[in-house]
Amino acid sequence: MTVHSAPAVDLPQHLQDTDAHHGSDAEIAQQVREHHAAMVADLDRLTTALRDAPASDQAAARASLEEWFEAVLVPHADEEEVTTYRAASTLAGGRLLIEAMVREHVLIKRLVALFCSSEGAAAAAYGRAVFEAFDSHQGKENDVILPLLLAAPQVSLTTVMGAHAHQVGEHAEHHHEHHHH
Ligand SMILES: [Fe+2]
Ligand SMILES: [Fe+2]
Repeated sequence: MTVHSAPAVDLPQHLQDTDAHHGSDAEIAQQVREHHAAMVADLDRLTTALRDAPASDQAAARASLEEWFEAVLVPHADEEEVTTYRAASTLAGGRLLIEAMVREHVLIKRLVALFCSSEGAAAAAYGRAVFEAFDSHQGKENDVILPLLLAAPQVSLTTVMGAHAHQVGEHAEHHHEHHHH
C-alpha cells in the first residue's frame, strides 16, 4: 500500500479529515461490511424465493424483489458514489479502480432494468444474475476499497460517511414511491 507522506491530494472540503477520527474508522468499515452482508443475505433470499415460487406466489415474490431494488440496492450504489467512491477516487491507485467500480454499478443497474422488463422464469434468472454480480461487487468494496481508505491518513471514514447519513435521509423520503407493473 502506498504511504501518503503529505496531503498531496485535493479532497473536496466535506471529505477532508479535519479531526482525529481514525479510531472509529475501523468500526465504520466494519459497519459497511455488515451492511453489505445483510444486503447479500436479503438479495439471496428474495431472488431464491422468486425462482422457487409456485405460480400463485410469483407476482408477489417479483414485486418484493423489485421494491428491494428500488428502495435498497439502487440508493446504496448512488450513495457510495458520492461518499466512499468519491474519497477513494482521489487517492493514488484509486482513480482507475473507482472508474471500473462505477462501471459495475452501470452493469448491475442494467441487470435490474432487464429484470424489471421481464416476467416469469426470465425475471427470476435476471434476479439471480443481480445477486451474483452484487455478491462479487461488494466483496471488492470490502477487500479493496475499504482497506485503501483505511490506509489513507488524509481520509476520515467518519467524515465521508457523514455525507452518507445525509444521503440516506434524502432517499428515505422517496421510499414510498414505487412503481409496479
Ligand atoms: Fe457498489
Ligand atoms: Fe456497497
